[in-house]
Amino acid sequence: MADKQMMDRAEHVLYKTYNRFPVVFDHGQGVKLYDTEGNEYLDFGAGIAVMGLGYGDEEYTQAVKEQLDKLTHISNLFYNQPSIEAGEKLLAVSGMEKVFFTNSGTEAIEGALKIAKRYHYNKLHEAMGDGCDGCEDKEPDMTGEIIAMHHSFHGRSIGALSVTGNAHYQEPFKPLVPGIRFAEYNDLDSVKALINDKTCAVIMETIQGEGGIYPATEEFLKGVRALCDEHDMLLILDEIQCGMGRSGEMFAWQRYGVKPDVMTVAKALGNGLPIGAFLASGKAATAMVPGDHGTTYGGNPFVTAGARAVLDIFEKRHIVEHVREVGAYLSEKLEELAAECSVVKEHRGIGLIQGLELTVPVGPVVSKALLEEKLILISAGANTIRFVPPLVIERADVDEMIKRLKAVLS
Ligand SMILES: Cc1ncc(COP(=O)(O)O)c(C=O)c1O
Repeated sequence: MADKQMMDRAEHVLYKTYNRFPVVFDHGQGVKLYDTEGNEYLDFGAGIAVMGLGYGDEEYTQAVKEQLDKLTHISNLFYNQPSIEAGEKLLAVSGMEKVFFTNSGTEAIEGALKIAKRYHYNKLHEAMGDGCDGCEDKEPDMTGEIIAMHHSFHGRSIGALSVTGNAHYQEPFKPLVPGIRFAEYNDLDSVKALINDKTCAVIMETIQGEGGIYPATEEFLKGVRALCDEHDMLLILDEIQCGMGRSGEMFAWQRYGVKPDVMTVAKALGNGLPIGAFLASGKAATAMVPGDHGTTYGGNPFVTAGARAVLDIFEKRHIVEHVREVGAYLSEKLEELAAECSVVKEHRGIGLIQGLELTVPVGPVVSKALLEEKLILISAGANTIRFVPPLVIERADVDEMIKRLKAVLS
């Protein structure tokens, strides 16, 4: 009853953009969550791929508490040590050259798009030469066009929404940012067909998450990289969901032997603290200059102390290697389940970002798993169950999840 009252209050006050499941969560430990009535849940959603270290990790919590007592915010008018150290660690594991900390994934995408536009602008200005008398009168068209992918997801702010290939999300908010064209994911010819001399970047997820867990093929990713090199366009890889170890590499693109010019991360970077980042290398690393971009909170010592602790723990506890090992086990078990269950159409994904496409709508399945089996699963698209658990799950958790999921699907 207390829960019912709480949910009624929530519906009264919170702006209604979500249809929430009827559970009020209270606390978590490891890969388990507990609602306000004391029920225990097995979590294979990790707060949408965020809680990589699971809940209540002592070392992480301690690091965050210490920073909370010291200094939470100072603004980007000054330096702070946690942001420098978190930045150094992020560059070390990615091989990128510069990082900008944001407050969310969508803001990381905004920054990445601005780098692309700025890069294009710089290029045109250079081409016009220094002595560009009367440029203002001529008003040259500086529009940089961007190629994005159908069925992608990059966030909800206007810029990020503009490159999100989902008409349903876009339609009510038009007009969006101009100059965005959509190609088919994993179809190199469809990318080639959209390139013109205004195209300044290609943006894509290395593994499409919300769109249904579709990894890029090696041929496609390498092909897009080659096109970007050939046409002097930036390759922006969105690693917000598939990055931070989830694919069995620190960043999913590291599997393919290609490197982006710009990459975005968020979600598991803060293990629940709101932080994202865009990282750039080579020509993209210097495209923006002081005054081009900013944020009040971004990179504050509190959230970057959390990210620093996450990156430390990843290294110390070999989280990526663990994901590889337990991810292979999850694959094996999902393959077996797919062979046994007639409602499973296809199994996709790698590491701890996997999906089962069903022949039936996924909504009721996820809901039944939660309410009857106390198993937290999330959906991707209309028909796919998405498995993005905390990265610290063990084989026994996989076994338990499969047992509960079988009960739901049978
Ligand atoms: C691939 C990808 N990009 C961007 C975003 C947006 O991130 P945020 O919700 O932190 O703004 C998401 C969120 O789900 C995502 O999965």
